[in-house]
Amino acid sequence: MSRGHLVRRFVAALWPGAPRPEDEAWAAEVLDPEELLLFRRLPNHDRRHALRVARSTDDALGADSEPRWIAAAMLHDVGKYDAGLSVPGRAIATLAAAGRAGPSRVSSWEERAGLRRQIALYAQHGEIGAEQIRRAGGRDEAAEWSAAHHHPETWLTLTIPFPVVQVLDAADHT
Ligand SMILES: [Fe+2]
Ligand SMILES: [Fe+2]
Repeated sequence: MSRGHLVRRFVAALWPGAPRPEDEAWAAEVLDPEELLLFRRLPNHDRRHALRVARSTDDALGADSEPRWIAAAMLHDVGKYDAGLSVPGRAIATLAAAGRAGPSRVSSWEERAGLRRQIALYAQHGEIGAEQIRRAGGRDEAAEWSAAHHHPETWLTLTIPFPVVQVLDAADHT
């Protein structure tokens, strides 16, 4: 991801508004009640991101779009809730995982307290979200994509068809 892209994302994330009401209504229509609870506790910028990803997934799949793929797009980042990090805190978390601290050091911070622990939880948001979706009785495809979306090395082993995986991933980076 280019630096310009990261900056644009960061600036977009600072805008505090809620998603458009028609997009929120779409989430309520597609998601099961338990899935919707996980979605609704996310802050505005996370719901806006999830709905943007779901819209572009729906557009890209066209006639092949199905509610389970849209649910996977809407729920892929629900695990971010647990870290409770602000937008600047997330920037620090991303830099820590990519920089000198490295991913394994960051995950060892899970036992620590404060910001270090939040950074560790943020780094594992995919796995944490998958666990929450399963515990809530949500769709398998959504749990699978949450766990896998930052692990391209697993994508050929998923039950989600690879062309759908590619669409979900591309939509996450627009
Ligand atoms: Fe993510
Ligand atoms: Fe995402």
